Amino acid sequence: MGNDGDYDWEKEVEEFEKTKAGVKGLVDSGVVKIPRFFIDQSEKSSNSVTQLQIPVIDFQELTTRRMEIVDEIRKASESWGFFQMVNHGVPMSVMDAILEGTRKFHEQPTESKMEYYSTDVMRTVKFYTILGNLQKSHAASWRDAFSCTFTDDMLNPAAIPPVCRNEINEYMKFMMKLRDTLSDLLSEALGLNRDFLGKMQFLKSESLSCLYYPACPEPERTFGTEKHADPTSLTVLVQDDTGGLQIHHDNYWVDVPPIKGALIANIGSFMQLISNDKFKSVEHRVLARSIGTRVSSACFFYPSSDQILKPCGPLKELENPPIYREVSYLEFVTCHQKKMSEEDSVTAEAPLSDSLSVRQLGAVSRRWSSSLYRPLSPSLPIDSHDEEVVTAMELLRRKRPSSPALQIE
Ligand code: OGA
Ligand code: NI
Repeated sequence: MGNDGDYDWEKEVEEFEKTKAGVKGLVDSGVVKIPRFFIDQSEKSSNSVTQLQIPVIDFQELTTRRMEIVDEIRKASESWGFFQMVNHGVPMSVMDAILEGTRKFHEQPTESKMEYYSTDVMRTVKFYTILGNLQKSHAASWRDAFSCTFTDDMLNPAAIPPVCRNEINEYMKFMMKLRDTLSDLLSEALGLNRDFLGKMQFLKSESLSCLYYPACPEPERTFGTEKHADPTSLTVLVQDDTGGLQIHHDNYWVDVPPIKGALIANIGSFMQLISNDKFKSVEHRVLARSIGTRVSSACFFYPSSDQILKPCGPLKELENPPIYREVSYLEFVTCHQKKMSEEDSVTAEAPLSDSLSVRQLGAVSRRWSSSLYRPLSPSLPIDSHDEEVVTAMELLRRKRPSSPALQIE
């Protein structure tokens, strides 16, 4: 490394942000070396396997095959935290269109994208690479994002740029429909009444992230998306046919192969909490690659604006000693963000003291709701460093009298 003394990390990030052109701007300018804040220092484990396959669940004839499908969802959510869905009712044309809309947004001239460029997590419609304050301990991901937040299923259509407005609105209509179906099925898979999660409004708000992964000149030094678990109730993802998404399963990184027409469902960490660990939220990442652009769209589902302020723990209906303490979703996300931002006092400022007014909380909730896909911090010790790593989920575990609070059981 040698010359680290000359290296001004903040300045490099600042200069990058000033261009408002994202990773695509870097690539278009012809960089052959990636800026250092994208470099992931951790050992890249290559222990990925291809024999293992995440479950593929066919939703065809849902009414007659319901029990069977519920059972497949239960098994997949318990052991994988991920599954692919086929015949889910979202037309192929609508999926193709959202990927095309994603591409169109990111491939328009920089001047047209710039007005949306923001690192402010409060903005409901924004284009960014880095959200909030990047930590020196965290590498930036080699991709650009355009995200739209639908609080309680709603976003003023005029706020979405015309270049992808129809695609996003049409896709979101189907996402909400599929959400209703999945909400019922997941409730049943948890052994609860079909309308349970729906009534609780645990999946009532959405943030759609339209992601653009340009080719990377040094793909072995960074990731398309750094490893993380989604702090959501549920995430539904559509990816193009290039691949690169991997999930952490049984200490392996397992590829999630593109299947034409499939959507990927991903149990979020909040679902893991309310299900008292019955359903698993699993770490995943996207590899960077040297050729070709990848696009994907991730729809993050999380609780309604009313619900996010209410304390909520593992569901009592599940009749197990609760593993986690009660926490509002707002607090939950803040906890995740704090974990990933040890030195960061901007996005992780303690917004949860009792003295805060509801209005302030509303502002805070808007702030994080559009930032859902910031990765969880230091994450599990799969290919990471020696120091002890504590995840946000572990922090939320109830304390046992005789054991150290943060001990992993
Ligand atoms: C995410 C994510 C995966 C992908 O945005 O949280 O995991 O394939 N994206 O883009
Ligand atoms: Ni994710």
